[in-house]
Amino acid sequence: MKKKLVILSGAGISQESGLKTFRDMGGLWEQYDVTEVASPEAWQRNPELVLKFYNERRRQLWEAEPNEGHKGIASLEDWFDVEVITQNVDDLHEQAGSSKVLHLHGELRKARSSSDPGLIYTLTHWELNLGDKCAKGSQLRPHIVWFGEMVTEISNAISVAQKADIFVVVGTSLMVYPAASLINYIRPGTPVFVIDPHSPEVFYKEVVYIQEKAGKGVSILKRELEKFK
Ligand code: OAD
Repeated sequence: MKKKLVILSGAGISQESGLKTFRDMGGLWEQYDVTEVASPEAWQRNPELVLKFYNERRRQLWEAEPNEGHKGIASLEDWFDVEVITQNVDDLHEQAGSSKVLHLHGELRKARSSSDPGLIYTLTHWELNLGDKCAKGSQLRPHIVWFGEMVTEISNAISVAQKADIFVVVGTSLMVYPAASLINYIRPGTPVFVIDPHSPEVFYKEVVYIQEKAGKGVSILKRELEKFK
């Protein structure tokens, strides 16, 4: 039976595909006030601005392609039972061929009813506008977990993290909870690898740091993982 490899990814994995991270220099939260574009209050106050912000993200995703990092992670399925837990709302892991991807913070390619959270639609165009309605006649909103909203997938993510034989963190600042808390559920003794070009903080005692961008970092990771397969 294949060992279970769990990957926790963040915006950094998609940086080489041309999508901006949030907290790096020039990142999205330097350009935008998060409370103005990614909160339920913002949606109440100025839905047009919220839609504009996510339309821009979606337009970029429509043109983006998975990079060597996403592809390398997908190729690890030859050796391991890989589950990706991602904070990203893009679908570049899926496009690269990863078969098990859990989205903690929602999905940019989907919209849902603002009155019935069970009514979820896959978008065929990058634009979502005021006046676009669900089958029940309510305005559609981005299928994104905004600040202040429940991360409903967290319990599924915790049970995945608890089963990891090997755990990899790639391209996340681990600043946002509850996603960042997932590392607390790794079983003691589990090998942990961290891929990030900036010096990440030491948060776990047995970490192997690969201080590279995701593309190169994942190829180094693959060499390291050969002995675990
Ligand atoms: P951040 O922007 O907080 O962190 C990005 C991380 O990626 C940093 O540690 C960077 O050093 C690293 N990085 C930058 N370029 C990289 C590259 N080419 N390869 C690998 N790593 C690279 O993004 P997240 O941690 O994903 O939530 O942010 C978490 C959440 O905060 C997001 O899901 C989003 C945001 O607010 C919501 O919108 C709900």
